[in-house]
Amino acid sequence: MPALNENIAATTSLAARLQCPNCNKKYAIDIVQSYATCCNQPLLTIYDDLSLSKEDFKNKPFTMWRYFELLPVFDQKNIVSLGEGWTPILQLDKLARKNSIYSLLIKDESVNPTGSFKARGISMSISKAKEFGIEHVVIPTAGNAGGALAAYCAKADIKATVIMPRHTTETLKEECRLFGAELILLDGLIDKCGKLAKQLSETKGMFDMSTMKEPYRLEGKKTLGFEIAEQLNWKLPDLIIYPTGGGTGLIGMWKAFKEMKKLGWIKGRLPRMVIVQTENCAPMMQMFQHGKIAADYNPQPSLAYGLAVPFPFARDLMLDVIKESHGIVITISEEEIQQGITEVASNEGMLLSPEGSATYVGMQQLLRSAWIKENEEVMLLNTGSWYKYR
Ligand SMILES: Cc1ncc(COP(=O)(O)O)c(C=O)c1O
Ligand SMILES: [Zn+2]
Repeated sequence: MPALNENIAATTSLAARLQCPNCNKKYAIDIVQSYATCCNQPLLTIYDDLSLSKEDFKNKPFTMWRYFELLPVFDQKNIVSLGEGWTPILQLDKLARKNSIYSLLIKDESVNPTGSFKARGISMSISKAKEFGIEHVVIPTAGNAGGALAAYCAKADIKATVIMPRHTTETLKEECRLFGAELILLDGLIDKCGKLAKQLSETKGMFDMSTMKEPYRLEGKKTLGFEIAEQLNWKLPDLIIYPTGGGTGLIGMWKAFKEMKKLGWIKGRLPRMVIVQTENCAPMMQMFQHGKIAADYNPQPSLAYGLAVPFPFARDLMLDVIKESHGIVITISEEEIQQGITEVASNEGMLLSPEGSATYVGMQQLLRSAWIKENEEVMLLNTGSWYKYR
């Protein structure tokens, strides 16, 4: 088995440029960028010369860096890795039978470094920060992204400032401190943390790592999509349920699917993508129903910290994914999140994060409404570790 990040020596990134998803304006890829100021949208990385074969991946390392050619880091010396990615896909047999569904899969992202799928995006953005010589980064976070950022910054010798809602758990706070980050706690939700991050980036020159306000995290999250395809032998499930806050994983997976289609690695229909949010904070339901988020709604915190993102910057791109994939947006209650954790734990021996549990109870809702058919294959995502919510 190849060791971590061996065997990528002879490869080069095929990333060619950055582009606004709205007007296609091009942005240079060899200088630090944040977002597409032309249309106030996230920037997308575009790859040219997509002539790679999926067979080329046979001898690659079992981390997300096995897809190096399709990622935006140019010099592999700059990779900052703690072994993220290549997480297991488990079959929830008992719960499939109980819920009368043909196949129920879960990708367990809780085994990533720092216990969440945030490791993928942050490994990428900190590798790019290293490549660009950035010395100090700031991140607003619901919890998990801050811990991941602090860890990768410790590894890369980059200063980290993490801004987090005060109501998160001591575990989420303490890991940031142990990794040596500066931790700022605020009363309120992540949008308030985001305002301070913007201010610090403007006044103190810190690089702002807010969700989708820099183009690199998305590319790390995209590896989820490559992995799901490769681990399922290039046959994707009928639908994927994603616990949605800022939406990087959702947009990232969809981007991966489209790139793999172009590469000829996958054929046929792509999965229907499902956004699940909590009733306490469901801006994407407003987007889905009305095409905009009411300015005066009253978002509340959630047990699932990662879902409490009141005004996600990438909301237009998320809505595009739902429309293109013939997907749907649903909400679940805080009580259902609790029930889901107990049900999956006692049946399958897996402790899901509250966000992961939201995907399970979301599936049950969609089975009740017959939006999911009994003969379909469903993929859930356990995006984080239950143990960090204590
Ligand atoms: C465990 C967990 N799941 C899901 C999410 C939502 O992810 P995204 O912001 O990419 O939608 C988060 C974000 O904080 C999270 O920590
Ligand atoms: Zn534009």
